[in-house]
Amino acid sequence: MLFNSDKRFSVEDGESVLDAALRAGVALAHDCRMGGCGTCRVRLLDGTVSYEDEPFGLTPEEAADGYALACQARPHSDLVIEPGIAEATPEPRRHSAVVRDVRPLCGSVNHLLLDVEGDEPPLFLAGQDST
Ligand code: FES
Repeated sequence: MLFNSDKRFSVEDGESVLDAALRAGVALAHDCRMGGCGTCRVRLLDGTVSYEDEPFGLTPEEAADGYALACQARPHSDLVIEPGIAEATPEPRRHSAVVRDVRPLCGSVNHLLLDVEGDEPPLFLAGQDST
């Protein structure tokens, strides 16, 4: 269940909280899906989770403060979660662009170099590069 929301979803055995949320149409912020970027950080207001491997994008102090990485977290009970950066995430907008370069970085992560058309610059978060 999402804090301050009527959104609820079920997590299948072995499924991450993020995958279950996306499957249910609940848009949790995410990026790498590998436990590295921290974009999917949520605060656990109730319940507990564990990880197959401790994610390097979450410090022990953050975990002790009740944070979890939804892309790696497997629930051990019903959860109440508060999305971490949803409020700071810019609303999606459509831009036209020409792809100048695509460079694979790892797994499903690619570096795109785009020439964005129009006068309105795209909004982005720290960790993304708008050049
Ligand atoms: S999406 Fe990057 S750590 Fe979860």
